[in-house]
Amino acid sequence: MSTKVAKKKVANKKAVAKPVKKAIKRTAAKTEFYASLVAQLRSLLKGEYDFIANTANFSALVYNALPGANWAGFYLLYDDVLVLGPFQGKPACVRIPVGTGVCGFAVKQGETVIVPNVHEFPGHIACDSASNSEIVIPLFDGERVIGVFDVDSPTLKRFDDQDAEGLNELVTVLVAHEEGLDE
Ligand code: SME
Repeated sequence: MSTKVAKKKVANKKAVAKPVKKAIKRTAAKTEFYASLVAQLRSLLKGEYDFIANTANFSALVYNALPGANWAGFYLLYDDVLVLGPFQGKPACVRIPVGTGVCGFAVKQGETVIVPNVHEFPGHIACDSASNSEIVIPLFDGERVIGVFDVDSPTLKRFDDQDAEGLNELVTVLVAHEEGLDE
């Protein structure tokens, strides 16, 4: 049986997630956890370039591995609106204008946003009332944001700088792969 690979590339060849710049307090356990997730992601991506398939598996990987996550998925940017992409968790709102909610704020700022308590974030969009904290990582095509990866948790203060670093690395691996930069 022939296994034809759909190789769909996103717009240009310099897509990377922005690095987390400040000094980070790390634990060995989290370092190991994210190293393992990166290895699992590389294995899932190997030989497959379909963007929907890979972002779907990316969401499933993070959702099932990350303790305390109740939603993990992508919103992709079309003009000035984020549109729901592959995800795991309860059904979510479909369209989020740039500048709205945590996701729209992350796009506007062009950087990772950690929200320790979503109830204190002005304009937070509650898709699941169980969510109490959130992290949103922008996806970059060169300097341009093309979407976000969003993770929610019922645990207050669930995400720290090391999660931001680890999730940024995962997103960077994904986007670089889609660009064919890891071949
Ligand atoms: N809470 C997000 C909306 C998306 S859901 O969490 C899945 C926001 O405020 O942008």
